Amino acid sequence: MKILVTGGAGYIGTHTCIELIQANDEIVIVDNLSNAKYEAVKRIEQITETKIPFYQMDVCNYNGMEQIFKEEKFDGIIHFAGLKSVPESVKIPLQYYANNINSTLVLLELAKKYHVKNFVFSSSATVYGNPQTLPITEDSPLSATNPYGRTKLFIESILQDFYTCNPTFNIAILRYFNPIGAHPSGLIGEDPNGIPNNLVPYVTQVAIKKLPYLKVNGNDYPTKDGTGIRDYIHVCDLARGHVLALNKLKTNCGLVIYNLGTGTGYSVLEIIHAFSKVVGFDIPYQIVARRPGDIATCYADPTKAYQEIGFKAKYNLNDMARDAWNWQKKNPKGYE
Ligand code: NAD
Ligand code: UD1
Repeated sequence: MKILVTGGAGYIGTHTCIELIQANDEIVIVDNLSNAKYEAVKRIEQITETKIPFYQMDVCNYNGMEQIFKEEKFDGIIHFAGLKSVPESVKIPLQYYANNINSTLVLLELAKKYHVKNFVFSSSATVYGNPQTLPITEDSPLSATNPYGRTKLFIESILQDFYTCNPTFNIAILRYFNPIGAHPSGLIGEDPNGIPNNLVPYVTQVAIKKLPYLKVNGNDYPTKDGTGIRDYIHVCDLARGHVLALNKLKTNCGLVIYNLGTGTGYSVLEIIHAFSKVVGFDIPYQIVARRPGDIATCYADPTKAYQEIGFKAKYNLNDMARDAWNWQKKNPKGYE
């Protein structure tokens, strides 16, 4: 299939492009490079030895996107493009609503006009809010505690409404848990701007001594060691999940929703220990106050994705730590 990958120069997009090319799909990347570098696209080309059509374009630009739809004639769309920082979304909510929602509306309008009937959307476990029961199944109650999460919830509803009046479309809503790690080549990985918000890029920047120590946000949660528990999934496993989801769409399945997680939760301290083992020294950390809005525990029930699309994570925590560290070590300044 010929797939439009929006946000394909970003963290999850780059890894997914590799999996798609290896599965013999043809890809075209559209990214406005607001949170990525063109170098990332060159690295995908290097890994796959494939020339990749790339458009630097804002997905919210209807006319610009229409030109691309006319030229390329897609069979499917994977929509990664979006703003993703929770704290930033609290500071500039309108930009989050405008970017994340308008980009999706433009794509759906064009998908309808040009009969591109396969659509995969990057949702997040954040749509489960503070989960009442664990592990989290796809039919758990949904809620949002910040503007970023609300964009994901709104877009999921928009997709449901769109599907109701366009039932010949096939739509996969993928709810990612916590992607970490990097491609084993060490050529692509997560390259956050400024000081990372998320745990793992922070840990690896402490490990290369760019940052002095990790602040562990709270050790008084009702968990095994008091620190927050998350379902960390290797980004290459997550990427493979998109290929499996596209295969499912080919069967004319309608609208489907899958958790993409491992089903196992690790605490912040367990993550620190796993990284300390891989880097060969103790990662320095201090316990500080809880981060506002954080929940204690979040991990997936991955059964539905396994039963319906054959998705099962292959990489373990040690692999994730090894590959994240390999990327960080080889690219101390990211793609610069
Ligand atoms: P990322 O920031 O690395 O990638 C997103 C890409 O989209 C970037 O390259 C950015 O330049 C591009 N982009 C943003 N707005 C755009 C626009 N209007 N037009 C064109 N390009 C645009 O983020 P990521 O971690 O790869 O996440 C990809 C998707 O997965 C996002 O939608 C994110 O919300 C979602 N998600 C991410 C995580 C995570 O932990 N990384 C978890 C759950 C869901
Ligand atoms: C966060 C977002 C989530 C988003 C995801 C990916 C919040 C509340 N949630 O998930 O919506 O989809 O990122 O972008 O921001 N931690 C520390 N010290 C740090 C950083 C994190 O102790 O410096 C802890 C957190 O308290 C948490 C765990 O590490 O327990 C994971 O945090 P993080 O990597 O930011 O992911 P989430 O909060 O799960």
